[in-house]
Amino acid sequence: MEEENKYKEWLKKHNLQKNPFILEINPSLFVGYQQQISNLLSNIKQQQKLILLSGPTGSGKTTIISYLKDQNKDYIYLNKPPKETNDLINLSDYFIKDLGFLRKIITRKPKKINDLPSFLDKIITRPKVLFVDETHEASTEILEWLRVMVDHVKNLTFVFSALPVFDDMLTKNLETLKKRVTKKIELSALTKEETEELIKKRIKHAGGEDIKPFSYNMVDYIYSRTGGFPRDVILLCNDLFNMAVEKNSDIIDHNLMEESNKKQIETSLKMDNLKHIPEKQKMVIDIIAQNEPITPGDLIPYFDEYQSNKHALRAINNLLGRLIKQGFVERKKEGKSYSYKLSTSTRTILVKG
Ligand SMILES: Nc1ncnc2c1ncn2[C@@H]1O[C@H](COP(=O)(O)OP(=O)(O)OP(=O)(O)O)[C@@H](O)[C@H]1O
Ligand SMILES: [Mg+2]
Repeated sequence: MEEENKYKEWLKKHNLQKNPFILEINPSLFVGYQQQISNLLSNIKQQQKLILLSGPTGSGKTTIISYLKDQNKDYIYLNKPPKETNDLINLSDYFIKDLGFLRKIITRKPKKINDLPSFLDKIITRPKVLFVDETHEASTEILEWLRVMVDHVKNLTFVFSALPVFDDMLTKNLETLKKRVTKKIELSALTKEETEELIKKRIKHAGGEDIKPFSYNMVDYIYSRTGGFPRDVILLCNDLFNMAVEKNSDIIDHNLMEESNKKQIETSLKMDNLKHIPEKQKMVIDIIAQNEPITPGDLIPYFDEYQSNKHALRAINNLLGRLIKQGFVERKKEGKSYSYKLSTSTRTILVKG
């Protein structure tokens, strides 16, 4: 209870209605990525058939799509790719509901997936866009059908959003689909100015003013620690924010940061360490950087010097274990297996490097 009061008091003192750094996806808090957005919109206008929006976890793929989908009623948004061909058929509903009153009543969606492409081609009579988020999770079968739709449904533009690993998946399994991607748009990170804007927008949204309670020079610090990756920016701000509440400090500035500073020193130490780690570990870091999050199994193809997959997997798990111990890599349980990604500080070092 006391904790809660302390928190409320602190918020009140700063005219804040809530913690500004909750990890919510709110299109009105959108900043930056203007180049990518205008690129995306211009390709949509040209009615390109297949556009790929690619970026590492936390770079803002879902946020960009959520921001755009509200702006046009011809934009359809799937937060996951369809799982089964039946789900794919059910997509018809989005388009049937646009038909005139009478046609809507008499139109039946196809029973068989084979009939879906021509059906959609017939009923979609003005340009529409289908955004599919997390496309890297789609099965090969679903992707094959999406490819057929790319070919046969004239008025439909597909925008697939996916982790960078999707590229490799396409190269390995679906070269034919890969060839149909006419534009790839990459999200990397925000600039320092955009990072500042993100912080200010969130503070304002929570009722606060300008960048308060942060001091201005904290922007440099936040940017240098996160490399401008949106999710990391929000997480770090959240940490700093809670630290300020904890210490009942009126301003979030360098004085507040003994603890954070310690971490920063660790980061610079790590930068040196990173230069001196064995080649194999370096290679794993590189692969993770380009494909995160990644499972040990995903790494096997890069280790072809072992006599079997089982041997390779053992070596990989050893390497990952060492990287975790040194703080370069983090792992997260996902279903039955673990997925690995770079720790924030490692990513910052690589971005700077
Ligand atoms: N351009 C942006 N402006 C403001 N906030 C952003 C922006 N991009 C991302 N964010 C914030 O960063 C967080 C992560 O973004 P988002 O979930 O869109 O990333 P993602 O690329 O979809 O990640 P994942 O691959 O893990 O799904 C969200 O809380 C979101 O509010
Ligand atoms: Mg997402």
